[in-house]
Amino acid sequence: MLPPVSNPASRVAAPLAIEKKFNPLNFAIETLKRPSLTGAIAPSSSFVARRVVELADISDSKTVVELGPGTGVFTTQILKSISPATDFFALEVNEAFADATRNRCPQARVYHDSATKLSHYLNVNSFGLCDCIITSLPWTIFNPHEQEQLLETISASLKPGGRFISIVYAGAKMRERGRYYINSLPLFFSTVHKTHTVWQNLPPTRIYCCSK
Ligand SMILES: C[S@@+](CC[C@H](N)C(=O)[O-])C[C@H]1O[C@@H](n2cnc3c(N)ncnc32)[C@H](O)[C@@H]1O
Repeated sequence: MLPPVSNPASRVAAPLAIEKKFNPLNFAIETLKRPSLTGAIAPSSSFVARRVVELADISDSKTVVELGPGTGVFTTQILKSISPATDFFALEVNEAFADATRNRCPQARVYHDSATKLSHYLNVNSFGLCDCIITSLPWTIFNPHEQEQLLETISASLKPGGRFISIVYAGAKMRERGRYYINSLPLFFSTVHKTHTVWQNLPPTRIYCCSK
């Protein structure tokens, strides 16, 4: 794990470095090794990542966090959108994926740890509350108790009016845990909007945009 940042100057994002992409086959291998963590057969498409980050509207945000960056598809777009003054970090529970995101986005701060530790990493970095939290965590794998705990942590880590953006694969509503997640969102956020299905992804997905 990386140590917290004490020097504010090091919070400034460096110019975008050369992007090193993770072999898609390795994503599938990681999914097979840890099916209960990954929840997808392939990384999200760049199309979805661009749409997610556009909806997140983070160009003026002070603090942005990504949960479950996988191989860094969203991270790449997040770094293109935030300003050098934005505080940003990502939490990834799978070490191979955390390394892949670090390789692809060397200027991003990526901790190998669970999203459940969000408040801890906000505190150790003295970042305060977040303007925006972006995630493609595998919600339909988490049981109701895990979902509630994480949604509670996420909601408590956002500023009033802060945004939470997550993707939910098409068909999630047909699964009990998918329904549980979707129905839980209004209990933790004051507004919940979803996009139409975005077909340019495997699997197709909807983007949920919530605000506290
Ligand atoms: C569906 S994949 C999405 C990866 C990537 N964001 C993308 O869109 O291609 C879900 C990611 O969440 C990570 N993950 C699962 N549970 C997590 C947790 N509790 N904390 C942090 N990351 C987690 C997985 O390891 C995986 O990288």
